[in-house]
Amino acid sequence: MNRIVLAYSGSLDGSAAISWLTEQYGAQVATVSLDVGQGRRLEDVRDRALALGAVRAHVIDARDEFASGFILPALQAGALYEGRYPLATALSLPLVARRLVEVGRIEKADAIAHGSRHANDSVRIETAARALEPGVRILAPAREWGMTRDQVLAYAKVRGIPLPAADSHYSIDMNLWGRSIEFGDIEDPWREPPEEIYELTKSPLEAPDTPAYVEIGFEQGVPVSINGVAMAPVELIQSLETIAGAHAVGRIDMVENWMVGIKSREVYEAPSAVVLHLAHRELQSLVAPRDLERLTHDLSVRYADLVYNGLWYTPTREAIDGLVATVQKRVTGTVRLKFFKGDCRAVGRKSPYALHAPPPRDGVSQDPSAAEGYMRNWGLPLETATRLASQIDPLDHD
Ligand code: ARG
Repeated sequence: MNRIVLAYSGSLDGSAAISWLTEQYGAQVATVSLDVGQGRRLEDVRDRALALGAVRAHVIDARDEFASGFILPALQAGALYEGRYPLATALSLPLVARRLVEVGRIEKADAIAHGSRHANDSVRIETAARALEPGVRILAPAREWGMTRDQVLAYAKVRGIPLPAADSHYSIDMNLWGRSIEFGDIEDPWREPPEEIYELTKSPLEAPDTPAYVEIGFEQGVPVSINGVAMAPVELIQSLETIAGAHAVGRIDMVENWMVGIKSREVYEAPSAVVLHLAHRELQSLVAPRDLERLTHDLSVRYADLVYNGLWYTPTREAIDGLVATVQKRVTGTVRLKFFKGDCRAVGRKSPYALHAPPPRDGVSQDPSAAEGYMRNWGLPLETATRLASQIDPLDHD
């Protein structure tokens, strides 16, 4: 094998993978690192890759693409896995896979590689890569090398690979759409997450004593402004994270069904995602007819499952996107939210496409004779059922 392209985030496993792939396969290793809003300086990641022997280190600012091509479609589709997880990690991996495959082609690599050992994340990267490049050879060193965590630490030490400052027992992944925290002592679903694990959200105890009102403007399903100030998606998501996080909004504590079937205790911090999903749903419910609202809700469950299960590059996801896009044409307007000590609720919503009409001013329901006929028909099946029941078994009915 001549050359391998490795998706590299700067983690310990990834760093060890640069050395391990070089030694194991006698190959040149080139790395590719994406900025998806994880708040880590990619210059440092590049320097580290080169210092560890990578022949080239590609660095890509993918934040705009992540926001517009992955986060926004998931927001518009209402994709919350098992009703709660906004899918931050799951949404970033099809993008990572796409860039990995592209750089693999540019580098004329014999294989691509990733340093993940996570069951869900590995499936997502590998499935996406194969959908984009059938037959691609994929190496997963952290799965193949058979080293324990301690052995990896020892392996790294010998090769001068920088060790993590404090070896946290949590596994943490972060990007623009939120922060995922797993394992360590929170694996026990009975144990309350310690306050120190939170970085993006204040505790409700420390949140301001006065509520904040925030107005989010939407244009065709895309959040475009905060309190009347226009913002591009990345900036909007980041600003909202600051405001909502300060008010302790965005913590999620749940037991989640993993792809492979196990249940896992998960803690997320996703201030912007929580707020934007709430606001989007509020506005959509103002403008979408009832049946369409029901349909979009059903599809949101399917969409979240698809994203979670690594099926981003599929005709099913594209088909749902098509339907969702039709609905978004009217999701324009403003939602007024109130943040207070961990609570976020919509207190106002308006849209030029609002289907809402107060009953007294609505011609049809003002006509008393129309109302009467409706009452008679609507109650008829209930009367029939009661009559029938008393005929069949009169004693059963009182
Ligand atoms: N449970 C979440 C998911 O499957 C979070 C995964 C976080 N990944 C990680 N390597 N820490 O999407």
